[in-house]
Amino acid sequence: MNPEFKNTALAAAKQAGRIHKKYFEGETQTREKSSSFDLITVADLEAEKAVVKTIKKSFPTHNILAEEGSYQKTKSSYCWIIDPLDGTNNFSFGIPIFCVSIALAKNNQIVLGVIYDPMREELFFAEKGKGAYLNGKPIRVADAASLDKSLLITGFYYDRGQNMLNNLEAIKVFFQEKIIGLRRLGAAALDLCYIACGRATGFWEFNLSPWDFAAGKLLIEEAGGKISGRKGEELGLENSYVIASNGKIHQEIIRVVNKVSR
Ligand code: IPD
Ligand code: CA
Ligand code: CA
Repeated sequence: MNPEFKNTALAAAKQAGRIHKKYFEGETQTREKSSSFDLITVADLEAEKAVVKTIKKSFPTHNILAEEGSYQKTKSSYCWIIDPLDGTNNFSFGIPIFCVSIALAKNNQIVLGVIYDPMREELFFAEKGKGAYLNGKPIRVADAASLDKSLLITGFYYDRGQNMLNNLEAIKVFFQEKIIGLRRLGAAALDLCYIACGRATGFWEFNLSPWDFAAGKLLIEEAGGKISGRKGEELGLENSYVIASNGKIHQEIIRVVNKVSR
């Protein structure tokens, strides 16, 4: 693979991280986006601008799919998928759990992913067929082979309808299955990194967008885990229900979330 892909992705992620920190330590300037639960800050916008500028400088003909802007479609088979700030609600409330996520897809297949958490200076990186890394060291998913040995992570979309109720029901069932614990960290891309490096064993969330999971998908796969849609199908960029795990408990998660969905 062209080494410039990696260099560009890393440079762009570091730049976004610097912008996050600048605003996190200063004035976050939050406003509502699609609803009162869905916030946006100047950091989201400035980080996206910086990431897109860096990518466009090296690869002017590539496509861009990013959360905060729309970009002219090109004929290139490459597409950069960007969440400039994942965890905006944490960010705007002063919780230091957020990241930038950048993936490169070729013909809709993710070939490179970078997720950077600037507060912990943790840089997660994966390249198709070449493994997954945290700050340059190889990472692997955890070992747990059953739900009762599992720490799970979930997320809640900005939805207060039936999907939310199903999610709450799923949580109840997981606890009945005696999981060790459940976390809601507030940044889906980082959630997936935590599965990839074995800090948790399984994750599920409905209604994610491609920029939330594109880079994380490759990280999980390269770290030996599994990521799929709700029924276990291959996770395409058009999917929005995401299940990720160390592989060993994947079917168990699928069983529970499908039991509660009507
Ligand atoms: C959100 C976070 C959150 C998840 C939401 C996402 P944003 O992304 O990843 O953890 O539960 O579904 O939309 O809005 O902070 O980029
Ligand atoms: Ca996001
Ligand atoms: Ca975002």
